[in-house]
This record gives sequence, structure tokens and C-alpha cells, in this order.
Amino acid sequence: MLAYFNGEILAAEQIAISMDDRGFLFGDALYEVVHVYRGQLFAWDLHMQRLGQGLAELRYPDVRLEGLKAAAVALLREVEDEEVLVYIQISRGVQPRSHLFPGPSTPPTVLVWARPLVPLDAQVVAQGVSTVTAVDDRWAKVWIKTVGLLPNVMAKQAANDQGAFDAILVRDGMVTESTSANVFIVEAGVLRTAPVTNYILPGITRHIVLELAGELGMKVNLRPFSVAEMMNADEVFLTGTTTEVLAVREVDGHAIRRVGATSQKLLQALHRRANQI
Ligand code: PDD
Repeated sequence: MLAYFNGEILAAEQIAISMDDRGFLFGDALYEVVHVYRGQLFAWDLHMQRLGQGLAELRYPDVRLEGLKAAAVALLREVEDEEVLVYIQISRGVQPRSHLFPGPSTPPTVLVWARPLVPLDAQVVAQGVSTVTAVDDRWAKVWIKTVGLLPNVMAKQAANDQGAFDAILVRDGMVTESTSANVFIVEAGVLRTAPVTNYILPGITRHIVLELAGELGMKVNLRPFSVAEMMNADEVFLTGTTTEVLAVREVDGHAIRRVGATSQKLLQALHRRANQI
């Protein structure tokens, strides 16, 4: 397998991350995951925009994002699967361990790889997935897509240990998102999802699904919802780069009234959009 590392395409075995890399030591790194449909990088510009906002918020010195696309395209020549994921990670670079930032001339560590996406079983997608709720105990800046995903990892594993597909995170009684996707409900034909605040990741798929909903004439309500409102909703679904649009059939053992009517329409619209690029 090949990967892009600091300006070069290398065999994966040749890549070694320094013991002093700040991504490794402090989680001082940002990442993006891009879905590739039939060789095309989907929503690339939106991913780069979010990455740029994260870099600015974390006060990284100027990182040139232009080379990333060429790197991704070069790696995609090696992976011929119909659906692929491109992963991009940028850390603040290498410096003997110190909480303080390194000098502005320290280059960032940039890694890009492409791997085949293993799609969920079609039957799982059709039936919807079961979920559990979990306390959202992440820090208050989860809108920045850092690699500091330990709370997400712990919640996802706890869900898996209970036989569920994912955990839906709850802060002060309100649903924020899931461990790696945004959460929508449908109430009397109206889509509802949490508004973008510092407590959710502004998902690219969320953004596109809201656009598609508009095109399909669906009404949208950007207001936070409680666990009780989610339990009483007509539908619940997740959105994300790897998740796409995925129906939820169960939350904490409670069956959701309906599975798939709206989410299937949006998934089809997402696929139409992805295949047009
Ligand atoms: N996760 N919320 C969280 C916490 C996420 O980690 C993700 C994506 C999303 C959905 O965002 P988008 O639609 O831009 O993928 C929401 C990626 C895919 C991951 O960690 O693998």
C-alpha cells in the first residue's frame, strides 16, 4: 500500500512517525475523511474548507492545502474499488515534547492514504441499525475535527459491547450527534437536526442532506431535540461520510416508529448527487 507523507508518495512500510510528533503526543492534529465515488472525490472543497477552519482555530502556521488533492488523486490510481475512503491527517509537526507551540518554521506532519470502503451490508441498511444513548462527555470544541477521539471510541465500543451499532451522544438531555455521524429525526414530515454549535461536528453529509432535503421539498427544523423527542419521532437516521444516510431502528431497546421512508429517499438523492460529479 502507498501513502502520501510530507510531500512524497511512499510505501506504507517506509513511513515512520516521530516519537516527538505532536499528533502522537498531544492529539495535536486534524483529520478529514473523504468519500470517493467511482474515482471522484466527493465534496472535496467542503472538506478542505472545514480543515482550513480547524487549522486557523488551532493557530497552525500556514499549511498549504493545494497539494493534498494531487496526493489523493495519485493514491487513487492505486485503488480501483468502486468506493474508496481518502484519509487526511495534519499534525502540528515534530518538536521535543513541550506544551508550547513549536516555532513557526516547524513543518506540519501531513499524511494521506486511500483504502477501499467496505460498505455496510445492504440488509443492515434496509433494516436500520440499533443504537444506545451515551453521555456526551467530550470537550466543548468538537466542531474542530481533531484526532482526539477517545470519548467517541469509548462510546462506540460500549455500544458494540451491548450489541448495538452506534452510540447517540446526549449532553444535558439533548442529542448532539453519534460517535462518527450527525443525527436527524423526522416528525410529521419535518426533518430536525441539531443546529451547528461548538458541541457538534458540522458534518459535510449533514450539510448536503439539508440541501437535498430542500431540493426534495422537505421542511427542515434546526432545533436541538431531547432523547424523549427522538424516541417519539417517526424516524431517526444518521449522516456521515462513511455512514451516508443510515436509518436507526432502535434506541436503547425502544423501536422507532418507522424505518427508512425518508432516509432512503435522502440516501438515493445523495447517491444521485455523488454520481453526477
Ligand atoms: N466522522 N460527527 C462526528 C463526531 C464525526 O466524527 C463525523 C465524521 C460526523 C459526520 O461528518 P461528515 O459528514 O463530514 O463525515 C459527525 C468521520 C467519517 C470519521 O471519524 O471517520
